[in-house]
Amino acid sequence: MEKGIRIADLFGNEGEYTGKPVRVQGWVRTRRDSKAGISFIELNDGSCLKSLQVVAGLENPAYRDLLEKITNGSAVMVEGTVSASPGKGQAIELQAERIELYGWADPATYPLQKKRHSFEFLRQIAHLRPRTNTIGAVSRVRSRLSYAIHRFFAERGFNYLHTPIITASDCEGAGEIFRVTTLDPLHPAAPGAGNSYQDDFFAKPAYLTVSGQLQAEIFALALGRVYTFGPTFRAENSNTSRHLAEFWMIEPEAAFYDLEDNLDLARDFIKNLAAVVLNECAEDLDFFTRFIEPELRSRLETVVNSPFEVITYTEAVDRLQKSGEKFVYPVEWGNDLQAEHERFLTEKVFQRPVGVIDFPRSLKPFYMRVNDDQKTVGAMDILVPGTGEIIGGSQREERLDVLLDQMKLKGISIEDYRWYVELRQFGSAPHSGFGLGFERLVQFVTGLANIREAIPFPRTPGHAEF
Ligand code: 4AD
Ligand code: MG
Repeated sequence: MEKGIRIADLFGNEGEYTGKPVRVQGWVRTRRDSKAGISFIELNDGSCLKSLQVVAGLENPAYRDLLEKITNGSAVMVEGTVSASPGKGQAIELQAERIELYGWADPATYPLQKKRHSFEFLRQIAHLRPRTNTIGAVSRVRSRLSYAIHRFFAERGFNYLHTPIITASDCEGAGEIFRVTTLDPLHPAAPGAGNSYQDDFFAKPAYLTVSGQLQAEIFALALGRVYTFGPTFRAENSNTSRHLAEFWMIEPEAAFYDLEDNLDLARDFIKNLAAVVLNECAEDLDFFTRFIEPELRSRLETVVNSPFEVITYTEAVDRLQKSGEKFVYPVEWGNDLQAEHERFLTEKVFQRPVGVIDFPRSLKPFYMRVNDDQKTVGAMDILVPGTGEIIGGSQREERLDVLLDQMKLKGISIEDYRWYVELRQFGSAPHSGFGLGFERLVQFVTGLANIREAIPFPRTPGHAEF
C-alpha cells in the first residue's frame, strides 16, 4: 500500500500505478450512484485540477454503511487499486476497497454546489473558494510563479532582500499610505488631533510601505544586484479590477544598469514567466483558456516569441491622438496614460507587450533620472494585453545636484531623506530597477477579469475579511 500519494502523482505516472494498491486523501467534489449498484465519487486533493474517479460498490460491506455520508465537500481517505478507466475523460480510476470519512459536510448547508458560482459570491466564502477549480488553479499557478521568480533572479546573480513593511517614507510620493499607530483614534494624543507623535509607538509618523525600492537602492549600491518580493500597501481609493490595497511586488534593483539594461531585464523576466506558465502549468493553463479567456494561450505564446515594442511617452501620445479612437480620458502631452490608453497601445496598435519610456518629469516621483531635455525622466512602464501596466520602473537619479533639485521641486524633505541623499554623496553610481505587481502578473497569465481572484485574500476599500 503506497501512502501519501497525491492525485497529481497518479495522473502523472499512469502506467506506473495501474494495478497497484494506493491510499489517497481529499475532498469529495461529487458523488453519483448508478443503477448498476456502483457509486462514482470524484475526489480532489488540490494537487492538480483533475479529480480522481473513485469506483465504489454500493453493496461492498467494507463501506456500505458509510457511502450515504460521502457528500459533496466531505473529507475522505480511500484505499484501493488503480485501474485503467473505461470511462471517457480519464485514463485511470480507483477501485475502492476501504473508505474512511474524516469530516462530513452537510449538503443542506455546504455552500459549494456542482454548478458554477459567481466570483462575487465566492469572495464572500474565501475560506471555501480554494476548493473550486478556478481558485485552485490560480493558487497553484501563483505558487509556481513565486518559485520561478526566485529561480530567475538567483540564476542572474540577484540577492533576495527583505525590505521593511513598516517605514517612515512614502516612496512613490502619492500620499496613498496607511498609517501605523498604536494610539486609539479617540485618544487625545492620536495623530491628526493636533498632538505630537511622542506618545505613539515609533515616536514619529509611520506607515505600511508602498514599495521597497528606496531600501533596495541602499543594498544595490553595496551588493550590486538585489530584488525584493513582498507585500506592499496602497490606500488608493480606486475600486477597479486592477487595484488592491494590499498586493505583492517584485522589485529588482541593479547597480551599473542604465534604462536599456533595465528594459532588457524586464523583458527577459516577463518572457521567462510566460514560458513557465506555458511549460510548467499546462493543465491549469488549458483550464483558463477553455473557461476564462480563449485568447490566453496565444497571448502567452506571443509574449514568449515576439520582440517587445519600445516607444517614448511622446510617441505614445502621438499614436493615441492619431488613432481616431474615442477615449474617456483626453490624451494630451503631460497627462498620465490611463488604463484605456495602455490597453489600446498594447492590444490594438502593437498587439504585443510595449515598453513606454521617458515620461514627463511632472508625472513621476522624485527619484527618477532627469533626461537631457530636462522635461522628461528615464521612466519605463511595461504594458501587456488584457492588463495594461504590469511593470513600472526607472533609472534612478544618481547625481547629487539634480536629485536635490528634484526633491525641492517635488516638495520632498531633504532632512527626512538624508540617508537617500548620502548615497549620492558617498560613492554614487548609476543604477536602475522596476516593480512588477505580482497580482497583475497572475491576472495576466490566467486571463482573470478581476484582480481580486488573483490573491488568496483580497483587500479593497471596504473589504478586509478573513
Ligand atoms: O508603478 P509603481 O507604482 O512603481 C513603484 O512602486 C516603483 N517603486 C517600482 C520600482 O521601480 N521599484 O508600481 C509597480 C507595479 C505596477 O506596475 C503595478 O503592476 C503594481 O505595481 N501595482 C499594483 N498592483 C495592484 N494593486 C495596486 N494598487 C497597484 N499599484 C501598483
Ligand atoms: Mg506605475
